[in-house]
Amino acid sequence: MILVTGGLGYIGSHFIVQLLKEDTDLLIIDNLSNSKLDNLKFIENLTKKKINFIECDTRDKKNINKIFLNETIDTIIHFAGLKSISESFEKSSEYFSNNISGTSNLLDSALKNNVNNFIFSSSATVYGNKHPSPWKESQEINLPESPYAISKIVSEKILENASRFQINFKVGVLRYFNPIGYHESGYIGENIATSKNLIPAIINYLLGNSKILNVYGNDYETHDGSCVRDYVHINDLVDGHLKALKYIKNSNKNFDIWNLGSGCGYSVFQIINIFEKLTNSKIKISMSPRRNGDLPYFWADISKAKKELNWAPVKHIEEMIADSLNHYNYLSKTN
Ligand code: UD1
Repeated sequence: MILVTGGLGYIGSHFIVQLLKEDTDLLIIDNLSNSKLDNLKFIENLTKKKINFIECDTRDKKNINKIFLNETIDTIIHFAGLKSISESFEKSSEYFSNNISGTSNLLDSALKNNVNNFIFSSSATVYGNKHPSPWKESQEINLPESPYAISKIVSEKILENASRFQINFKVGVLRYFNPIGYHESGYIGENIATSKNLIPAIINYLLGNSKILNVYGNDYETHDGSCVRDYVHINDLVDGHLKALKYIKNSNKNFDIWNLGSGCGYSVFQIINIFEKLTNSKIKISMSPRRNGDLPYFWADISKAKKELNWAPVKHIEEMIADSLNHYNYLSKTN
């Protein structure tokens, strides 16, 4: 059985819909902090399958242990965690306990119960700001700035350490760049009310939930002054997980890391322009101060994932944004 933590969140729910195209025994745990129980219903409707779900926080060691004792788990896909860089400066202890203790609890139960495969959701943020783009997995990593980034690098290291001593324990770390886009049905999305990311902010604007879109900084050293990011389609990202899982199961290495991005960068203004073009509307923006922890630009070197996982992103930026409107279209009909 595959245990999917954070399986009702944005990436987790898309992963499950894809995974269940084939028959797979799985269990979702989620603490519903940044996801909605509705997603469970949507996933069941889309996949026509009944999903095992337990509401559980990865910090709840007792409950986690109980789950591992009751179920025969062989693989963990660990999505659960807090994910806002700027918020992590204000709530560092929450980020450390959710992201680090959560990972460590899962690991502890995994090792006690002979669970051999572990895929971990890490982030491009671990690279810090010392290296020019594109960022490569082999780069030296210094202690990053934000508590969020620290929580991810510490989790990576805890898993790497376990993989050195436990002969059958295999870990695949996936460093995400900026995942965007939603399932074609538009049903499964994310909690746009609590998300701090750019696409949910634009969707909130389009829905009329906000009167203006804040652009955090127009004086960066980029071609148009706004931040440049490497956006990757959610379906491509999910595909990277399935390929990484297959890879670690067949590999004789115990620990590996792959970047999942598209390998090119787009600025905030470029993203807004594409939304305007696709919706045939004008987005009112307000120039706001730089956001704490934001870097001017970065994008991925994806050659390692291409070579080893036989993975490559297929969706280009216009398709990513068209698919970001899927969830907006759904929400605008139900709001
Ligand atoms: C961060 C993480 C990324 C993670 C993503 C989603 C890093 C380096 N980045 O990305 O790994 O996958 O969150 O959790 O770790 N912006 C606005 N107005 C808004 C919101 C955002 O201008 O209302 C700008 C931001 O300043 C930034 C860009 O849009 O320049 C993208 O921001 P966001 O979507 O929040 O993602 P990141 O912070 O880049």
